[in-house]
Amino acid sequence: MPSGVRIGSAADGRWLSLDPEYAELLGSEFGAVTAENAMKWGNLEPSPDVYAWTGADQLLTFAEQHDQAVYGHTLLGQNDVPKWVDPAWPAARLRTVLRDHVTTVVSRYRGRVWAWDVVNEALDEDGSLRDTLWLRKLGPGYVADVFRWAHAADPGARLFINDYGVEGRTRKADGLLAMVRDLRRAGVPVDGVGFQSHLQWDDRPRDLVGNLRRFAQLGVSVAITELDVRVELPETPAKLDRQAALYRQVLKACLAVTECVSFTVWGFTDARSWIPGYHEGYGAACLFDAALVPKPAYAALIDELRRL
Ligand code: G3I
Repeated sequence: MPSGVRIGSAADGRWLSLDPEYAELLGSEFGAVTAENAMKWGNLEPSPDVYAWTGADQLLTFAEQHDQAVYGHTLLGQNDVPKWVDPAWPAARLRTVLRDHVTTVVSRYRGRVWAWDVVNEALDEDGSLRDTLWLRKLGPGYVADVFRWAHAADPGARLFINDYGVEGRTRKADGLLAMVRDLRRAGVPVDGVGFQSHLQWDDRPRDLVGNLRRFAQLGVSVAITELDVRVELPETPAKLDRQAALYRQVLKACLAVTECVSFTVWGFTDARSWIPGYHEGYGAACLFDAALVPKPAYAALIDELRRL
């Protein structure tokens, strides 16, 4: 990309072999790939010390064959802890299990994953640390620990903290800003902040550019990590036009902030999007429709990129 911003998509490796057209678009339209689910802890380590690398490896190999960067997602996510991790275990055991997981995964992909979502969705809506097993048992220092372990395992990878609801100037964004500032002051290797950006067609984040800039002023990179724009069904041409305008606005914001290093959509086709399963009455959130035909949002992004 002329701007240096990586344009990526989340992807599910299962479709690479099952759906050649999906693979073709993923390989040709994007410069980076994020594993939508394959690198989550629960999927990688279904039983203690038994790793299932196939899905993640397949996606990595695909990315390398297509000269794409790989964005790792995610080392510690609020929903991704394997079921065998027992909340009743003593803190020391939980800490060891978490450290081993982070070290094993980051070491395996050392040099092949350019950035990791190290801690995902750690914050509550009020900007404080979410009440999780890790906070309860290990205390707030668990966030710094996970970053330090990841850095030790691959000093070359860029380490991100990633969350949703922080794209505009929200209380949660204020809390995240304060947290990243404190972590950096304490010398914790936080290199970037990921703004998921699961947006809705009729709701714009407040001052996205200003918000990205105030994070960048802390000395970190920023990234749009999971963009999609869901539409209330049925979709109409008017709604898809507003969707396109919002996609464009987010890309423009990223391009306007020098520290914005990547722009990733959370899947590129409506055929495979997580939205209908999680947001009743909503869908059509992606750049391509379910038949893989480009939508106005796709045209808007291409138009914006051609202006560079
Ligand atoms: O693969 C199994 C399938 O074998 C099984 O039959 C089926 C039955 O439920 O489940 C399938 O797994 C589902 C998986 O997606 C793959 O499609 C899981 O149930 C489902 O929970 C999982 O949802 C994912 C969700 O995270 C939870 O991990 C979504 O695909 C994924 O898009 C979503 O991604 C998250 C990011 O990680 C963090 N930010 C928010 C984002 C959207 O929720």
